[in-house]
Amino acid sequence: MSATAIESIAPRDIEHVAAIHEACFDDAWSDDMIRRVLGTAGAFGLVARSPGDLSIEAFALARIVVDECELLSLGVAPDRQRQGIGAALLDAAMERAAALGVRHFFLEVGEFNAPARRLYESRGLKVVGRRADYYALEGGAAMDALTMRCEPGSLAVRATTGSATEMSQSRAMSSRS
Ligand SMILES: CC(C)(COP(=O)(O)OP(=O)(O)OC[C@H]1O[C@@H](n2cnc3c(N)ncnc32)[C@H](O)[C@@H]1OP(=O)(O)O)[C@@H](O)C(=O)NCCC(=O)NCCS
Repeated sequence: MSATAIESIAPRDIEHVAAIHEACFDDAWSDDMIRRVLGTAGAFGLVARSPGDLSIEAFALARIVVDECELLSLGVAPDRQRQGIGAALLDAAMERAAALGVRHFFLEVGEFNAPARRLYESRGLKVVGRRADYYALEGGAAMDALTMRCEPGSLAVRATTGSATEMSQSRAMSSRS
C-alpha cells in the first residue's frame, strides 16, 4: 500500500507546485507568483508528497487574515486525481486554519467546476455569493466564480482532530493506486 504525506510547502517544492498549477488551470501561476503569494502576511502552503519518490502530487495555498482563511488555490496533478488527495489537503488546510483560531473559511470556485464544488460541499462549504466573469478561460471566454464559505462550527469540529503540522508527521493517507 502506498501513502501520501501532507506537509508544509518548502522552497524547493515551488517549481513543482507551479507545474501542477499549470496542468490544472488555464491561468497558470509562475514560480515567482507562488513565492509572492506565500510571502504575503498570513499565507501558508501545503503539499502532498508521494512516499515513493517524494514527488509533489498536489498543493493547497491559503491565507489567513484576522479570523478568516481564504483557500487561494488547490490542485492535484492530473494523474493523481480522484484518489482522496484533494480532500486530504483541504482537510489539512482547514485544520491548520482552525488551529490558528480562524472562524471562517472561504474560497472561490468556478461555477462549472463540478468536481471541486462536490469536494467543497462534502466539507460543509456552502455557496454564499457569485462573482461574474471571475475566471478568464482560454480563448477569451470567462466563467463566473461562486464564493463558498464554511460555518464557524464546522471548523471548530475539525480543529479537534489536530493541526496540519501534526498531520505531516502522523497522518499518512491511504492511496487507492
Ligand atoms: C478538484 C480537485 C482538487 C479534487 O481533488 P481530488 O484529489 O481529485 O479529489 P478527491 O479524490 O479527494 O475527491 C474528494 C471528493 O471530491 C469530489 N470529486 C473529486 N473529483 C471528482 C470528479 N471528477 N467528479 C465528481 N466529483 C469529484 C467527490 O465528492 C469526491 O468524493 P468521493 O471520491 O467520495 O466521491 C482536483 O480534481 C483538481 O485538482 N482539479 C483541477 C484544479 C481545480 O479545479 N482545483 C479547485 C479550484 S477551486
